[in-house]
Amino acid sequence: MRIRSIEWKKNKVIIINQLKLPEKIEYIECITPERLIEAIKKMEIRGAPAIGAAAAYTLALTAIKNRSKTKKELLKKIHEMAGKLKSTRPTAVNLFWAVDRILKIIEHVEGPVNEIVTAVVSEAMKIAEEDVKANKLIGKYGAELISDGDNILTHCNTGALATVDYGTALGIIRAAVEEGKRVHVYVTETRPKLQGARLTALELKYENIPVTVICDNMVGYVMQKGLINKIFVGADRILRTGHVINKIGTYTIAISASYHNIPFYVAAPTSTFDLETSINQVKIEERPSEEVAFCGNVRIVPEGVNIFNPAFDITPPELVNAIITEKGILEPPLDRAIVKIFNL
Ligand code: MRU
Repeated sequence: MRIRSIEWKKNKVIIINQLKLPEKIEYIECITPERLIEAIKKMEIRGAPAIGAAAAYTLALTAIKNRSKTKKELLKKIHEMAGKLKSTRPTAVNLFWAVDRILKIIEHVEGPVNEIVTAVVSEAMKIAEEDVKANKLIGKYGAELISDGDNILTHCNTGALATVDYGTALGIIRAAVEEGKRVHVYVTETRPKLQGARLTALELKYENIPVTVICDNMVGYVMQKGLINKIFVGADRILRTGHVINKIGTYTIAISASYHNIPFYVAAPTSTFDLETSINQVKIEERPSEEVAFCGNVRIVPEGVNIFNPAFDITPPELVNAIITEKGILEPPLDRAIVKIFNL
C-alpha cells in the first residue's frame, strides 16, 4: 500500500494530513487556496516536491474559484496568491519553481479569463505528474547504486509523502527492492518534527522493507559499528556549486559518513536545483521554538530557556559522492556536472 500525498479531484485538492501520521490516516479536502496555504504552513503537507505541487494546485484553486470578470483582475489575484505562497516556507526551492513556472505560463495566454484558468489548472497537473515520472527515473538510476544486502541510512522523509508519489531517496530504495534486492534501512527519527520516525518508518513498513529507527544522535555510533554501508538522502535546494540544502542533521550525517568512508548520495529532481542563488543568499527556515520545547504534548525544555530551531542545513559538495536526478547520476566535481546537465 502506498499513500499519495496530494491529488486534484473534481476541482478540490485532497491531501493526507501528515501531522496525524502514523496514528491516523486523515484526508483534508482543500476547497479554497487559503486552506492549502495553511496546510503548507502547518506542515500538514511537507517535503520539497510535495509543497511544489501544493503551491501549483493553490494557484489552480485560485484560478478556478475566481469570480473575476476581467483578465486584469484575475492576474492580480493569482499574483497576490503567488506572493502569499512564497512567504510560507522559504527554503525548499520547488515551491518557488512551481509558482514561477505558472506565472510564466499565464504571461503568454492571449485569450480571455477562462483560458487563463485552463492554463493554470493544466500546468499545475503537469507539474504534479512530472514529479511522479521524475521520481520513477530517479529510482531507476539510483537503484544501480544499491547492491543486494545493503544497509542503508536515510534521514527525514523523502518518500511518496514528501513528493507527489513514489519518492526521491526513498524511491531509490523502493526501486531497488522492486528489482529484487534485499536491503535494510536505518531511519533517523529526525527531531523535532519526526518525519523519519513517523513517516519514513510507516512507508517502509507498508512496503515490508526491513526498517530500524534510530535517534538522530545515534548516527555516529551505528556507522562506527559497521551497521551502515550507504546513505541516501533527499534535498530541498541544490545550488550550482553542488551545495545541498536538506533537513537539519543532513550535514552531520555527511561528516560522519566521510569519516567512516561510507558513500553519501543525494537524490532530487531537477526542480530542486537553484542555479541563481549563492550560498550566502539561501534562507534557512527557522521554525517555532515550541517544536523543540515539546515532545508531543509534553514540555521537555524549561519555560523561558532560549531555543534555536533551524529546519535545514547545508552540506558542501566535497561530502557528496553523487546526486541522482531524473536526468542521470551527477558525479564530482558536482559544479561541472551541474553545468553540463543544465547546458549552462
Ligand atoms: O521540513 P520538511 O519535512 O518539508 O523537509 C523535508 C526534507 O528535508 C526532505 O528531506 C526533502 O524535502 C527531500 S523530499 C523528497
